[in-house]
Amino acid sequence: MIRRLSIEGSTIGVLRIGLSMDELHAIEDRMTRRVAIMSIVLAVIGAMVFMAIVVNQHYRTVSQKYSQIQSFTGSILDHMRDAVMTINAQNQITIFNHRAEELFETKATDVLGKMSSELSSVLGHCFSEIFSEPGPESELTLECAAGHTHIVSISLSSTHLSDGSLESQTAVIKDLTEARQLEREIHRKEKLTAMGELASGVAHEIRNPLNAISMIAQRYEKEFIPRSGIKEYRTLTHVLKDESARVNGIIQQFLTFARPPKLKFANVSAQRFVNHVSTLFQGQAAARHIQFVSHCDYVGTVRLDHDAMTQAILNLLQNALDATPPHGSIALKAFRKERSLIMEIQDTGEGISQEQLEKIFNLYFTTKTNGNGMGLAITQQILSQHEGSIHVRSEVSLGSTFTISLPLVS
Ligand SMILES: Nc1ncnc2c1ncn2[C@@H]1O[C@H](COP(=O)(O)OP(=O)(O)OP(=O)(O)O)[C@@H](O)[C@H]1O
Ligand SMILES: [Mg+2]
Repeated sequence: MIRRLSIEGSTIGVLRIGLSMDELHAIEDRMTRRVAIMSIVLAVIGAMVFMAIVVNQHYRTVSQKYSQIQSFTGSILDHMRDAVMTINAQNQITIFNHRAEELFETKATDVLGKMSSELSSVLGHCFSEIFSEPGPESELTLECAAGHTHIVSISLSSTHLSDGSLESQTAVIKDLTEARQLEREIHRKEKLTAMGELASGVAHEIRNPLNAISMIAQRYEKEFIPRSGIKEYRTLTHVLKDESARVNGIIQQFLTFARPPKLKFANVSAQRFVNHVSTLFQGQAAARHIQFVSHCDYVGTVRLDHDAMTQAILNLLQNALDATPPHGSIALKAFRKERSLIMEIQDTGEGISQEQLEKIFNLYFTTKTNGNGMGLAITQQILSQHEGSIHVRSEVSLGSTFTISLPLVS
């Protein structure tokens, strides 16, 4: 600030007052810098918040998509008719679908995350068999749960990481037990039909000479008297007659088998039928000191030929009786399963070896000194006339279970 100093009108000097602005400018500069820094920080924070929102939104979409894909894949896996199992590089089970739970009779929660060494011995053994299969697709017989054997086909596939190391192995296991059973049954039926036709042809050829032998035997008995050895002569003619009659009886059975009589179907109470068969059989079981129990859960009716089906079940019960030692037990159980009536004949007898199991339904196959080997072939034939089926599970020294399935018409 500049002021003129004057006394009585004349200027005597000039007054100058000044203030340095440097400090002020320095403060101003600092303030400007701070504001700039604050703005940059705020801009960075704003950008980060914006990025976080975008990333979060993206993450939410991705995780939503991921869980959608996961539940979609899970639902596909759970609705698959084949069992699916996956193990990772550390040998831990990472996928075990619903069908696998059924096949191995084990809950997924009990196996997921576990290694095969941590599983039960039966399951552990199955796992090592499945994942050590050499080929991409193979068929084998597996004990999937204690006492339950299945024929399965396995197809194995693996995934690898970008460095080529193994990431996981997946096994798709198809249960072929029923299909193989069906194939065997069809094969058995075809064989039986062929055998029956052959038997009937042979039987006709044998019958005529047999009748001649039988008539001659009767004439020898009635019209001739030997000069000596009359007692032996009578015994021999008797044997000749009886044996001819026995062979004739067997031929008759063959012919009935080859050309079975037409069945008379009727709706029969399942419980009454089971009681009827049980009443016929329990006397024989008691006489051999074998405990016999029967039970039918199904209260409805089933369409069958009463006499033929009685014969079919009695054949099975008779076999069970022949195989079971005194104080053993035989059970006849009937129950409904889906659209079928199941009848199970279970014994604690000698059981049947794997090799014999292949043959027991063959006509004339027998291991008994006085057996004809016709019982099971006839039972099988009666069942196929009823559009039913029969199969057997057996273990040597433990016993056998024959399972009959008859369709229930609604
Ligand atoms: N429950 C069973 N336990 C052990 N073996 C059995 C059983 N059922 C059948 N078998 C075996 O199957 C064979 C064939 O049986 P199938 O009933 O056809 O003839 P069979 O009993 O020998 O003679 P048939 O019944 O004609 O008198 C038997 O000889 C026996 O070896
Ligand atoms: Mg028999």
